[in-house]
Amino acid sequence: MNTRNVTLLLASLLLAMSVNTASAQGKLSKAEGPISILNIAELEKQAAQKIDLGAFGYVQGGAEDEITLRGNTTAFDHKQIIPDGMAGISGVDIKTRFLGVDLASPVIIAPMAAHGLVHEQADRATIRGTARAGTMMAISTYSSVLIEDIAKSAPDAPFLFQIYMSKDDAFNEYIVNKARAAGAKGIIITVDAGVPGNREADRRNNYNYSIATPNVADFYKGRTMTQSEARALRKISFSAEDIKFIKNASGLPVLVKGILSPEAAELAIRAGADGIWVSNHGGRQLDGAPASFDMLPLIAKQVNKRVPIVFDSGVRRGSHVFKALASGADIVAVGRPALYGLILGGAEGVNDVFQQFNKELTTVMTLAGTPDIEAVKKNKLFDPVTRTIDK
Ligand code: FNR
Ligand code: LAC
Repeated sequence: MNTRNVTLLLASLLLAMSVNTASAQGKLSKAEGPISILNIAELEKQAAQKIDLGAFGYVQGGAEDEITLRGNTTAFDHKQIIPDGMAGISGVDIKTRFLGVDLASPVIIAPMAAHGLVHEQADRATIRGTARAGTMMAISTYSSVLIEDIAKSAPDAPFLFQIYMSKDDAFNEYIVNKARAAGAKGIIITVDAGVPGNREADRRNNYNYSIATPNVADFYKGRTMTQSEARALRKISFSAEDIKFIKNASGLPVLVKGILSPEAAELAIRAGADGIWVSNHGGRQLDGAPASFDMLPLIAKQVNKRVPIVFDSGVRRGSHVFKALASGADIVAVGRPALYGLILGGAEGVNDVFQQFNKELTTVMTLAGTPDIEAVKKNKLFDPVTRTIDK
């Protein structure tokens, strides 16, 4: 091998290392097929065995001491479901409708970066999974596959698109137009991640965010774009003007994600938001922030049914879905559980995660005497601390 060939080889090796595409990961799942699920907590342990520590830490971890991460799930214990075996129901129906789309259940997938970090088929398998389950996913700006290619993987599957707004409005306009052209039913503006949270698992594992973000790279033609480079372009704080801008630019319903106070919900609605997405980013951003579920009733009171509410963070059980709906949510999103399904069974695995939530929700609804999602939304939960039933 002559010097020139060695130089070329070294250059291509360096390039492969700098853009850590899915295939450059060590243990990248290729799994495709049905999985058996006892519960989502067990699924997390199984998924941990299948992929690299760095990738798993990025998916599973939260910010700093992970108080908010843990609190998101334990907060559901702050309310209890009162059984009602005397409701005279003859079965339950978990179908619902959101943004004009019929859904087989009220559970959808929250926007997540880097599906390609854990599975070879990346977001393509995820959308095939949601199509099979009759529900929908939200595609992140940092998806591992271009928006239009994800959409093509399941041509009739509805999806939402989540924008990480850039400081550059030309990018913002470009990306929402692309999402609309690909068939997005709505745009989600995430406002709780102006800077990334301080995630110690990533530092401990030397996880370096070098995975490619093709949607962003496509705009900056001719250059590569890692997640860490893309993050540096992000807007760090938001105003009513940003919501108006995206509404005008996209012509689609706009949901504001990362709302954790009644005041922020009010501001977003006044700016024209078509939906409020209550979330603390799954405890990945501000550690010490309240659990999403604890804030939901206060936000729902303020929103007062003017626009729909999507809820996420910490949902691991059908009973959590029930409690969120009974506390003011119209739709419930899951993040990590969907990726665990993807790791273990590709599209089938994602579908199985939905079937698990559906099965658990159906049992809970039957025992609570609530025949459909509207009845769940009217259900009154019990607060074991104040020993009162919600009004
Ligand atoms: C996220 N989340 C997220 N949110 C967002 O608006 N854009 C994004 O690109 C990402 N990326 C991302 C990657 C990974 C690996 C995870 C786990 C999460 C946050 C996500 O949308 C959602 O708010 C939380 O995941 C919900 O919490 P649970 O269900 O994971 O507990
Ligand atoms: C995350 C970013 C991408 O949570 O939102 O990792």
